[in-house]
Amino acid sequence: MTLQLGDIAPDFTAATADGEINFYEWLGDSWGVLFSHPADFTPVCTTELGTVASLSDEFARRDTKVAAVSVDGAEDHQAWADDIAETQGHAVNFPMIADEDRKVSELYGMIHPLASDTATVRSVFVIGADKRIKLTLTYPASTGRNFAEILRVIDSLRLTAEHQVATPADWQNGEDVIITPAVSDADAAERFPGYRSVKPYLRYTPQPTRA
Ligand code: BEZ
Repeated sequence: MTLQLGDIAPDFTAATADGEINFYEWLGDSWGVLFSHPADFTPVCTTELGTVASLSDEFARRDTKVAAVSVDGAEDHQAWADDIAETQGHAVNFPMIADEDRKVSELYGMIHPLASDTATVRSVFVIGADKRIKLTLTYPASTGRNFAEILRVIDSLRLTAEHQVATPADWQNGEDVIITPAVSDADAAERFPGYRSVKPYLRYTPQPTRA
């Protein structure tokens, strides 16, 4: 069954390059990003894991933990991590889940047989502190992901979870946001004084500060 937005992210215990983890225990109260890659020792995946390693401070600032998964074994992950550090200039600083028995891949629907019978596609699951799935993305093996976009989405998800606002196309953290249609004009005037109305359904306000 396909995991959908709002579903509880399945828990699991799995081997990683650095020993076993229980997913929920490792997440604690943080947000999480679980992302799959097709295979170790492949070019696009090497750039992706290096990029995620380079963004560790950005994920930490958003109280978000990141874990990678593929159907390769822990020893391969360890050996490949050396190549990632060497070629990308950033040592992997997050768990690399070794899903040789495909338990995690199957729980999260990361193997798409028409793309590959054996390897995971490039899936991304953003998981809230409540363990519910907030966002899913699926990319083919041939296309590396834009992890700046994933950080941008986390900014939007965390903001819109706290305030009755939504973020417009191409929004970046700090820019004006949209007041959701569920908020009446009277409530909007109280909660977002000075808001700007372009159409009755299109109302902008400066980004509220996050708690
Ligand atoms: C890559 O990471 O470059 C890759 C992995 C599997 C299939 C195609 C490309």
